[in-house]
Amino acid sequence: MGRLAYVNGRYVPHGQASVHIEDRGYQFSDGVYEVVPVVDGVLVDEEPHLDRLGYSLGELKIAWPVRRPVLKLILRELMAKNNLTRGIIYFQVTRGVAPRDHKFPASVKSALVITTKRLNPPSAAMINDGVAVSTQPDIRWTRRDIKSISLLPNILAKQAAVEAKAFEAWLVEADGTVTEGSSTNAWIVKGGEVITYPKTNDILGGITRLSLLDLVKSTGIKLVERSFTLDEARTADEAFLTSSSSFVVPVTRIDGKPVGTGKPGPITQRLREIYVENVDRQIRAAK
Ligand code: PDD
Repeated sequence: MGRLAYVNGRYVPHGQASVHIEDRGYQFSDGVYEVVPVVDGVLVDEEPHLDRLGYSLGELKIAWPVRRPVLKLILRELMAKNNLTRGIIYFQVTRGVAPRDHKFPASVKSALVITTKRLNPPSAAMINDGVAVSTQPDIRWTRRDIKSISLLPNILAKQAAVEAKAFEAWLVEADGTVTEGSSTNAWIVKGGEVITYPKTNDILGGITRLSLLDLVKSTGIKLVERSFTLDEARTADEAFLTSSSSFVVPVTRIDGKPVGTGKPGPITQRLREIYVENVDRQIRAAK
């Protein structure tokens, strides 16, 4: 059997899965999503991802489509049906289907769509050589803490980065502050300090970021949650990015110029290792 998707209570062939044309996600981007990495059939950091889903839903006053334990069961059911051992599970919740009208519908059931995708870990080249980022203006709204499906500025920035032969776009405010990547959090290392933007409405609070911050505490490596400028990033010793699909990936070029030595730095490599060890621990604990 081919890959299945979950759509509002039914498991349907992925190629034929569809939602109503008046789903408010389709018409207004009125919804939120999560991407959870799956390694060896285990959902990595599942609870913090579900906490963030609850936060995003709460901020937008969208009801949970099913209760949290039920959602966990459905995620496992779809993974099993699709034989997903390594990749990501994507789930999105929209406010539901209603005649198009900006204000919230009086009574509507939120809609739930879940898909799985096989995905290999970042390639050896990405880890050994690092990736390039290109910078783009951050033109997003001021509630970036909500994991909204409204991603137009993010996709425009990513496309511009791809056209500049870069892996990711780093988003820069008018005052020169680097907030985050189009779908990743941004980090630099300077004078032995690991620096990343503080968790505010200005960025998405990445779950990989959250786990890594926790892990760094036990290493003795100095960590600072503060904004940094593009100039600081350009002159940093090391840089890297984090996300559920790539974990920790060294950034070795910004706008075509090398960062530090132009090779992944020792602190970045160490942080990637401790992050991967943490994933391995979660897998062992789940088995
Ligand atoms: N992106 N910042 C933005 C804007 C993101 O979209 C993401 C995640 C992150 C990293 O968050 P996390 O560590 O929880 O994955 C930061 C996902 C992977 C996506 O849109 O596909």
